[in-house]
Amino acid sequence: MMSFTLASGDRLPAIGLGTWKAAPGAVYTAVKEALAMGYRHIDCAPIYQNEPEVGKAIAEALAGDVVSRQNLWLTSKLWNNAHAPEHMRPALEKTLADLRVDYLDLYLIHWPVAFKPGVLFPRRGDDFIALDDQAIGLTWKALEDCVAQGLARNIGVCNFSVRKLDALCRQASIRPAMNQIELHPYLQQRAMLEYCRENGILVTAYSPLGSGDRPAAMKKADEPTLLDNPVIQRVATKHGAAPAQVLLAWGLGRTTVVIPKSTHPERMRQNLAAGQLRLDAQDMAEIAALDRGYRFVDGSFFTGSGSPYTLEQLWDE
Ligand code: A2P
Repeated sequence: MMSFTLASGDRLPAIGLGTWKAAPGAVYTAVKEALAMGYRHIDCAPIYQNEPEVGKAIAEALAGDVVSRQNLWLTSKLWNNAHAPEHMRPALEKTLADLRVDYLDLYLIHWPVAFKPGVLFPRRGDDFIALDDQAIGLTWKALEDCVAQGLARNIGVCNFSVRKLDALCRQASIRPAMNQIELHPYLQQRAMLEYCRENGILVTAYSPLGSGDRPAAMKKADEPTLLDNPVIQRVATKHGAAPAQVLLAWGLGRTTVVIPKSTHPERMRQNLAAGQLRLDAQDMAEIAALDRGYRFVDGSFFTGSGSPYTLEQLWDE
């Protein structure tokens, strides 16, 4: 299995199973099957509201010697309602209890957005806390303490712009090891990749297949589909591969971790096998031309009326 090395020296399997949008009923079976077929990296988060089922599958796989804890990579994330240092540690402990493990391989700040404690998803402006009032630096310091205490081996962030990442790097004792961001041929983020490469930060590509199963409220009427793109389909046909494998091989070829979500064993197997597909320079050049700066997950759900967050401020664009 292809892997990439983090700043700590830990090696991270380059293909992980995504669990966002995986219904609690389906995710238990999916994680069990994934571990049995060779996945060694599961990407989780409490806001996916399925960590207890993921944890049940992991516990059974560990007990059945399908995989050892040392050979399994578990990532989870701190939700926006627990950025305050006194809430961060209990949130991590809840995730550890739900996943039934005593440490995470990687713990990430899910968004550079803060909510009041207890708010799962904001309904009005009053549910938010502006980052001026809940500094990311303090949250980060609490994460660093969790590394010292052995609860997380590596720490990082998600959805951070270069500007926010750079500001965090300047004040961190432990530099962020990872930025998990939306990344696919329609949103190639070259400047971000360059910044991360220069600064020893790995990048994970979320929504590598375009996340077609997002809830309707998170979809735009005219959004493009990645799996049906003619260039992706042509490259797939050329290699006798599936379009999803082309999208994943493209991500791996740029040294980014990919976390495709599926709950169907045949697709999970197909996605894992994308590690064997090698795209050539012509394929990469044709796919490079597909960039259109398009976000499927644009964060607009955090910028409604009364919110202190705007899209410009969120992405620094
Ligand atoms: P399903 O879970 O029903 O298999 P992303 O990883 O970008 O969030 O995309 C997830 C979406 O892509 C889900 O709708 C998932 O469907 C679908 N998907 C996952 N793997 C494949 C594949 N190999 N071929 C086609 N669609 C896939």
